[in-house]
Amino acid sequence: MLYIGIDLGTSAIKLLLMDQEGKICNIVSKEYPLYFPHPGWSEQNPYDWYGQMVAGIRELTADCDRSAVAGISFGGQMHGLVVLDEQDQVIRPAILWNDGRTEKETDYLNEVIGKKELSRYTANIAFAGFTAPKILWMKANEPENFARISKIMLPKDYLAYRLSGTFCTDYSDASGMLLLDVEHKCWSQEMLRICGIQESQLPKLYESYEAVGTLKAEEAAQLGLPETVKIIAGAGDNAAAAVGTGTVGDGKCNISLGTSGTIFISSRSFRVDENNALHSFAHADGNYHLMGCMLSAASCNKWWMDEILRTTDYAREQEKIRKLGENPVFYLPYLMGERSPHNDPRARATFTGMTMDTTREDMTQAVLEGVAFGLRDSLEVARSLGIPIERTKICGGGAKSPLWKTIIANVLNLKVDVIESEEGPGYGGAILAAVGCGEYESVEAAAEKLVKVTGTVEPDPELAAKYEKQYQKFRKIYPALKDVFGMLTED
Ligand code: XUL
Repeated sequence: MLYIGIDLGTSAIKLLLMDQEGKICNIVSKEYPLYFPHPGWSEQNPYDWYGQMVAGIRELTADCDRSAVAGISFGGQMHGLVVLDEQDQVIRPAILWNDGRTEKETDYLNEVIGKKELSRYTANIAFAGFTAPKILWMKANEPENFARISKIMLPKDYLAYRLSGTFCTDYSDASGMLLLDVEHKCWSQEMLRICGIQESQLPKLYESYEAVGTLKAEEAAQLGLPETVKIIAGAGDNAAAAVGTGTVGDGKCNISLGTSGTIFISSRSFRVDENNALHSFAHADGNYHLMGCMLSAASCNKWWMDEILRTTDYAREQEKIRKLGENPVFYLPYLMGERSPHNDPRARATFTGMTMDTTREDMTQAVLEGVAFGLRDSLEVARSLGIPIERTKICGGGAKSPLWKTIIANVLNLKVDVIESEEGPGYGGAILAAVGCGEYESVEAAAEKLVKVTGTVEPDPELAAKYEKQYQKFRKIYPALKDVFGMLTED
């Protein structure tokens, strides 16, 4: 049997075909545009996602026995607001996870409704990229659009809806809407009231590994796949990535180095960070997790390489970097503001510490280090909760760089386990599809059997000590500039 995992990312949709033994048979990636209609805003067109998914599935399965495809599932970019009208037409472009327009609504939720109440209702506080503040923004700024809303869904749920006709989501992704009572896994009636929406406008909730339906006849015909193909609910991309790296069960850690950067800690029991600096969400294995998310991770390096250095040869730029742990140049990675731990949509990226002898390599190194320091900020919060973390898995595009993995291992002082494939969400999606089709009895059992560690990057005590000093410098820069960022972004 064959299973398709769909990673609905921010820069591209990545589709992965896996057999029942976990072997990756094919991978296809298709890009689509990302729109920034104002500084700090971020939108995409759900029709682009769907179009590229259809083209992608056809290409992915072109050389295989299509009748052997049994299930499709997803790891989707989280928090995005997708709204459909009564005719199932998309009302406006999706407002994405890294969109910072909702400062006013986020402040209203955190300060007027109150963080304590929000945390009681949902286990989380409001962050600018979460879905509930976006609903409030639409209500205030686009009342006509708001009045037309028939269905509210998350990005990957739009794909599942088009394929199966089932209006559904899963607990892991729903956790990031700030509408779900995460502990009890049901919609929070208080949050629905605060946002002025009805439960009938929200999707039905499933575990990530549950089947929501099968391919609709016209979709099956278009894709050349059997109508018996099961659509499995899937997960937010971080939970799916965690499945794809075997970060399931209790106390395991995964770092995702994609457009965003996340630290994900699996937990068998529900728990909340007292200050809500880490998100407390449901996991795709049926349990829970804590997560810190930085909004710009591999995207910082991509911006630096593509837009500033104007090169496509990332490896060559990194080849000349040798002197780790003593770079006088520091970079704050806040190209889209920052979520964890600062919750500040006005934060901006900055280089500091350059002198006349600063080189191109120092700047490139500072970008890679700045992202690692940002991840360390979230790790510090987890450590302050008494969670013992000594090792982590790693996935995402940035994980392809050996240098970046070394920097991360030493800045975070963690053993970094490298797995066979860094295709976290796509592989996790395929695993969820296999579980949903009954190939494995649980997500944990499937991950245990399928995910293989191929090596470990160990921190070097001397270098880790140097990076400790560097990190202590890094963490003083944002507080010193916070007010400046506020001034720079004043209307
Ligand atoms: C997680 C988050 C990002 C997106 C990226 O909270 O916002 O990791 O899911 O796709």
